[in-house]
Amino acid sequence: MFKINEEYLKLPGSYLFSTVARKQREFEAAHPDKKVIRLSIGDVTQPLVPAVIDALKKATEEMAHKETFRGYAPDLGYDFLREAICKNDFHARGVQMDTDEIFVSDGAKSDCGNIGDIFSVDNRVAVCDPVYPVYVDTNAMAGRAGNYDAFTEKWTNLIYMPCMQENGFAPELPKEEPDIIYLCFPNNPTGATVTKAQLQTWVDYALRIGAVIIYDAAYEAYISEDDVPHSIYECDGAKACAIEMRSFSKCAGFTGVRLGYTVVPKELMQDGVSLNALWARRHGTKFNGAPYIIQRAGEAVYTPEGKRQTREQIAYYMNNARIIREGLAKAGYSVSGGINAPYIWMKTPDGLTSWEFFDRLLEEANVVGTPGSGFGPSGEGYLRLTAFGTLENTLEAIERISKM
Ligand code: MLT
Repeated sequence: MFKINEEYLKLPGSYLFSTVARKQREFEAAHPDKKVIRLSIGDVTQPLVPAVIDALKKATEEMAHKETFRGYAPDLGYDFLREAICKNDFHARGVQMDTDEIFVSDGAKSDCGNIGDIFSVDNRVAVCDPVYPVYVDTNAMAGRAGNYDAFTEKWTNLIYMPCMQENGFAPELPKEEPDIIYLCFPNNPTGATVTKAQLQTWVDYALRIGAVIIYDAAYEAYISEDDVPHSIYECDGAKACAIEMRSFSKCAGFTGVRLGYTVVPKELMQDGVSLNALWARRHGTKFNGAPYIIQRAGEAVYTPEGKRQTREQIAYYMNNARIIREGLAKAGYSVSGGINAPYIWMKTPDGLTSWEFFDRLLEEANVVGTPGSGFGPSGEGYLRLTAFGTLENTLEAIERISKM
C-alpha cells in the first residue's frame, strides 16, 4: 500500500495568498455592486514593455519556421540569456560571475521551493519572521521544519529571527546555530533593507559557522538608496557561502510569463562536493528549460530600450508606493517600507489583529491587503499593501482607507 508524504498533513490551512484570494472572491460574490481593489498579492498590473513584446513576437515568428524553430531549451538556460545576466546584473556591479554559475528557471518561486532538494533533511533552517511563506512551507513539506505548534504559530525545528519595529525589521544573528539561512532583501513582506555592511555581517557569520545563505533578491530593481546591496555577491566571501535567486516577475512584469534564475557559485562547496554541480544535476533531471521565446523576452530586458522601459515601469510602481506610504501616514497610520521595495508594511490600528483589520478594510473600504500574521507570528498586528496596482486604483484605495 502506498504512503503519502505525511509532512503535508502538518501544514496549517491553505497557502496564504490562496486564502486571501478566496476571501476576496466570497466578498465579491456577496457584494456584486462593490468595486474591490486588490493590493494583496504582489502581482503586476502594467503590460510588458514594448522591447519585451517585440522580442516575444520575433521569437514566436522564429518558432513558425523549420529553419529557426527550437525544441527543448538547454536545461540550464540559453547562453545568450546567461551572458546578458552575467554582464548586466553582476559584471556591471563589479562582481565576477561566470555563465555556468547562472541557472535559468521559470521563476524565483519555483527555485525557492526546489533548492531544498540539494540539502539534507537534517539541516537546521533559520528564517526571518515575518517571511515569504514559500521558504517555510517548502521546508515543512520536506520534513525539515518539525511540527507546527498552533499555539505559538511556529514550526518546532525552525529557527525564527524576529524582524520587528525595534530592530528596524532587520534580523539579528540567531542564538541557535543554523545550517541554512534564508534572507530576502529588499524584504518581502516588510519592505525593509540592510546596508552592505549589515549584509557582510551575515556572510561572515555563515562562513564562520559553515552555513549556507539562500538569498532572495527578487526585489533588487526597486532599490533607490545607495549603500543597499543589489546582490549578496557584493559582499566579500559570499561566493563561498551563498546562493542567490532573482526574478523577472517584479523587475520586468513577467508574473504571467515566468522567468527567473538562481546563482550557485562554483566556489560553494561542502565536504569536497560542489553545490553548483548538485544543482545542475537537479535542474537537468527535473526541469526541461524555460521556453525559448520567454528567454528571448528576458534577454530584451537587458537591451538599452528594455532597461529604459522597465526602469519607467518600476518608477510607476514606486510612485504608487509613495502615494500609499504618504497617504497612510497622513491618515495617522504607522507605516514602513515602500522606499526600496514595492511593499508597504502598516501597523493595524486600535489593537486589531491582522485578520480583523483585513476584514475591516475589505468590508469598509473594499480594499484587499495581506494580513501580516500570514507571514509569521511577528507579523501579527500588521498588514501588507502592494504598490503593484494601477495608479487610479492606488489613489482610490488610499482615499477610501483615509476616510475609514
Ligand atoms: C507576494 O505577494 O508575496 C508575491 O507576489 C508572491 C510571489 O512572488 O510568489
